[in-house]
Amino acid sequence: MPTALIVLAAGQGTRMNSELPKVLHPLAGFALFAHALNAGRALQAARTVLVTGHGGAAVAEAARALDPAIVIVEQAEQLGTAHAVAQARAALEGFEGDAVVLYGDTPFVRPETLDEMARARKRHDIVVLGFEAADPGRYGRLVMAANRLERIVEFKDATEAERRLTLCNSGIVMADAAQMFALIEAVKNDNASGEYYLTDIVALANARGLSAGVVTCDERETLGINTRAELAAAEALFQARAREAALENGVTLQAPETVFFALDTVLGRDVTVEPNVVFGPGVTVETGARIRAFSHLESCHVGTGAIVGPFARLRPGAELANDVRVGNFVEIKNARIGDGAKVNHLSYIGDAELGEATNIGAGTVTCNFDGINKHRTVIGRRAFIGSDTMLVAPVKVGDEAMTASGSVITENVPEGALALGRARQVNKPGLARRLFEKFKAARASHEKDN
Ligand code: UD1
Ligand code: CA
Repeated sequence: MPTALIVLAAGQGTRMNSELPKVLHPLAGFALFAHALNAGRALQAARTVLVTGHGGAAVAEAARALDPAIVIVEQAEQLGTAHAVAQARAALEGFEGDAVVLYGDTPFVRPETLDEMARARKRHDIVVLGFEAADPGRYGRLVMAANRLERIVEFKDATEAERRLTLCNSGIVMADAAQMFALIEAVKNDNASGEYYLTDIVALANARGLSAGVVTCDERETLGINTRAELAAAEALFQARAREAALENGVTLQAPETVFFALDTVLGRDVTVEPNVVFGPGVTVETGARIRAFSHLESCHVGTGAIVGPFARLRPGAELANDVRVGNFVEIKNARIGDGAKVNHLSYIGDAELGEATNIGAGTVTCNFDGINKHRTVIGRRAFIGSDTMLVAPVKVGDEAMTASGSVITENVPEGALALGRARQVNKPGLARRLFEKFKAARASHEKDN
């Protein structure tokens, strides 16, 4: 049975006090709404529809960058959750299968929970995700009759007795798409908020002889983000779980509480991560590699046995093959570093390719940018780049070639050649001593005058 995700993300998020739409605030390196999409991915959704409103253009752009197949619909006026879902109707015209409604500001729903809902659909026409709330506050309450869900009552519309119910609505609903839209059509807004409540489809379904059921999950899964404080708490929760998962998967973290992961970080078994390391989005580290203290990695790949840092920065497109060494104060961007190659000290390697076992001396820079365009540097295997070499791209250095330290390399270096690109040294016998005497005399006369 194919599934369609409908992700609601039209709300303003006033309490974030931000120019940025709420669902674009980052959590674990990804916009908030991406987390809901990620959970939904477990259902192998055939279609994903994102309902945007406030800051719609920016949200749409971010969504397309993440998933070009995503369908964006606009809810110009936010008239309630049922009205929001109704905006997806045209986009799902003719779709046969289930629709799952997720909230763009609710990042922690587990794929397993959605799977469980899909299984419960065999018993019920509508499945709602509920949770036992420690403090039910203003959540919608689930009114049960034995094992069936009779209706959902919003806090504002609930009686005192209903408000005492602790089984609450997460907002996540699953039903046959056509049936869901048919029910939504019958939803009215004659309630305390004057909104079209998606929650009303449960009572409507029961009145039509359909059945509704509840799957429950841990309250933390349903955590919605409304404020910066909640966003910070969510980040802390995400990181705590990610650290735990890494340790369980055979990663050594010397100081787990100082290591930060992104939603999609992949670390192989027996990877060691020293203190104060940040993983931005898109990082994969293979088995047995070591990420040393104070390194920052983003959209890069680190091969087996490689050692990175301390104080290294791997920027997007850094591809480190096996047993590579990248040392302190080295920045690598959009560059492939071959097996066993070393870039150990104070270097910038960008838009480049380094062959296996090549050694890059301290302070080497690939001068990749001419102020307008970027250019590539290609270095062969087992080459030796002397310290403080400036490689002015586009330029190539052949296999087993060498550059003299302090060289500015502007022409290709043939295989096996030594390139010298610096002024020849001249020695002036005795001149240093004479200069020192002259300088001392100048200082003495200056001190006497003052
Ligand atoms: C909703 C549920 C409530 C549940 C709670 C869980 C309804 C009527 N109520 O209440 O039972 O306990 O979530 O958090 O569904 N949105 C739109 N367009 C709209 C309205 C909302 O896109 O017109 C989006 C919001 O951006 C948000 C989500 O839908 O992501 C939920 O809306 P919100 O107004 O927060 O619903 P609640 O009143 O909290
Ligand atoms: Ca809410």
